[in-house]
Amino acid sequence: MNQTESAKRVALVTGGIGGLGTEICRQLAQAGRRVIAVDLPARAERVEAFEREVAALDGAITFEPVDVTDFDSCQQLTARIEQRHGSLDILVNAAGITRDASLRKMSPQQWQELMRVNLDGVFNMCRNVVDGMTSRGFGRIVNISSVNGQTGQFGQTNYSAAKAGVHGFGMALARETARKGVTVNTVSPGYCDTPMVAAVSAEIRAQIIADIPVGRLGSPADIARAVKFLAADDAGYITGADLPVNGGYFMSF
Ligand SMILES: NC(=O)c1ccc[n+]([C@@H]2O[C@H](COP(=O)([O-])OP(=O)(O)OC[C@H]3O[C@@H](n4cnc5c(N)ncnc54)[C@H](O)[C@@H]3O)[C@@H](O)[C@H]2O)c1
Repeated sequence: MNQTESAKRVALVTGGIGGLGTEICRQLAQAGRRVIAVDLPARAERVEAFEREVAALDGAITFEPVDVTDFDSCQQLTARIEQRHGSLDILVNAAGITRDASLRKMSPQQWQELMRVNLDGVFNMCRNVVDGMTSRGFGRIVNISSVNGQTGQFGQTNYSAAKAGVHGFGMALARETARKGVTVNTVSPGYCDTPMVAAVSAEIRAQIIADIPVGRLGSPADIARAVKFLAADDAGYITGADLPVNGGYFMSF
């Protein structure tokens, strides 16, 4: 595949108008990808704000409203994209929610809502893109996990379980698709400067920053560049891997 052909690769980013998703879309578009940002059929003003943010990229990014918990909608969306563009080459699963509570106080609803987005959503999207990718002999899947899936976090049994699950899912799928040119990796962000983390109290936030060796929260750009790296055409020998981007907050090998 030459440079001109690969520059036309089509990328789908779930959670695409979120804190990290917006920057992932932007960096993939800047790398020459045609990007479809997928997110909840959100309030019109939120989509408009997103469109203003990515306007400089001249229509390289388009928005598609889909709820990733709905398997049929994911199927219809991926079929539509493949019909329109001929292929779907890069999938980034960044849609995610938190439903924090200590296990003693966690309701079955808090558990299930989180699993449906953070884990079922990954299945629903991957299941619907994997046939096309393997039959065309090229694909890059990047799932956004979290450092809290590696270390566990108080009040996040649901989130930590789902995020660890995303990595197990990815390693298994990586084995199934490796010989077909499709790589599957995870990126595990540490604490980033996004609305998800802005929601915690100033005191806890200061404590978190004090525990990060690099001395600051991660930026969406720090995460997006890791995604872009794993989604590149020449990243074909990296699969089943987890790339931690956490400022040294959790070191392991
Ligand atoms: N921000 C952090 O510090 C951090 C750290 C580690 C991991 N993560 C993970 O990174 C990913 C992105 O997080 P973020 O900080 O950008 O959060 P965010 O809340 O800004 O973005 C998440 C996006 O997912 C979308 N979404 C939620 N439910 C959906 C559904 N059912 N269908 C489609 N879209 C849905 C939301 O509308 C939102 O736009 C998440 O998976 C999150 O768990 C974030």
